Amino acid sequence: MDWEQFETQLKQDQSAVEAALHAQFQDSARYADLTEAMEYSLLAGGKRIRPVLTLECCRLCGGDPEAALNFACGVEMIHTYSLIHDDLPAMDDDDLRRGWPTNHKVYGEATAILAGDGLLTAAFQALAGAKLPAERVVEAVACLAKEAGPEGMVGGQALDMAGEGRALTRKELELLQSLKTGALISAAAELGCIAAGGTAEQRAAVRTYAQCLGRAFQIQDDILDVTGTAEELGKPTGSDQVNEKSTFVTALGLEESHALVHRLTDQAEAALEGFDQPEFLIQLAQSLAQRRK
Ligand code: IPE
Ligand code: IPE
Ligand code: MG
Ligand code: MG
Ligand code: MG
Repeated sequence: MDWEQFETQLKQDQSAVEAALHAQFQDSARYADLTEAMEYSLLAGGKRIRPVLTLECCRLCGGDPEAALNFACGVEMIHTYSLIHDDLPAMDDDDLRRGWPTNHKVYGEATAILAGDGLLTAAFQALAGAKLPAERVVEAVACLAKEAGPEGMVGGQALDMAGEGRALTRKELELLQSLKTGALISAAAELGCIAAGGTAEQRAAVRTYAQCLGRAFQIQDDILDVTGTAEELGKPTGSDQVNEKSTFVTALGLEESHALVHRLTDQAEAALEGFDQPEFLIQLAQSLAQRRK
C-alpha cells in the first residue's frame, strides 16, 4: 500500500464516520440547548483516529467495516465527551478545541457537563443499536465500559488531576497515560475485532498494537503541547506547563520523548506480524508518530 492509497482509505473511513455521526441525533428529542451542545463538539472535526481504528481493525480481522460503524461512533462519542470535560475550568481550563471555542465557553459549564454526560450515555445506545450478533454487542459494551471507566480512561484522568504540581516518576506517568489515553484507543481497536467476530489471538494482537500506539500518541500530544502551534493543533499550547502537569517532555526532554514515540511505534507494528494485510494500520502508526496536529 503506497502513501496515496493509505490517504484515500483514511479519507473514506473518516467520511463514513462523519456521515454516521451526523445522523446520530437526527431523530432525537431535543431539550433546551443540550443536543446542540453535544453536536457542537461532536461534529467540530477532529482526526477521528479512534473510530478509524475500529473500522480498520474490523477489516484486519476479516469483517466488513460497515458493520462496525455503530461501535466506531460510540467510541468517538466517548472521546468527545472526555474532551469536553477535560477542557472544563475544574480540569485543564482550556478555551480552544478542534479549532473552536470550547464547549463551556459557548454553552456555559452546566450545559458542557450535561453535553458530556449525554454523549457518554448515547455512546452505549449506539453500541446497543449495532446490527450484529447479540453476544458481540455485549462483548463490545463490556470492553468499552471497562476501558473508558474508572479502571481505564476516567481512572487516568483522576491520576492526571491528582498529579498536578508534582513531579511524577516515569512509572507513574506510564500508568497515567496508558489509562487516560491508551485505554480508549485500545477499546477502539478491540471493538473492531469484536465486530468482526475475531479470534482471541487476533484480539490480543490488536490490543497490543493499540496500547503501544496509544502510548506513542499521548507522548506525541505532550510534545506538541510544547512544540506545536494553536493554529495547527486547534487547541492551546503550553496548557501542560500552566497546569503543572508531569509529561514525558518534563520527564525525559524532547529528544528522548521523540525516540520513545518511535520505539513504541515499532512495537505497535511488530504486534501486527501475524495478520495478512496489516499495511494500513502500520502506515497509520507511522503517520501518527510524525503528526503535527
Ligand atoms: C486529544 O485527542 C486528547 C488526547 C487523548 C491526546 P486527539 O488528538 O485524538 O483529538 P481530536 O479527536 O483529533 O480532536
Ligand atoms: C486528555 O489528555 C486525555 C483525555 C481527554 C482523556 P490532555 O489533557 O493532554 O488532552 P489535550 O491536550 O487537552 O487534548
Ligand atoms: Mg487533561
Ligand atoms: Mg487537556
Ligand atoms: Mg495534551
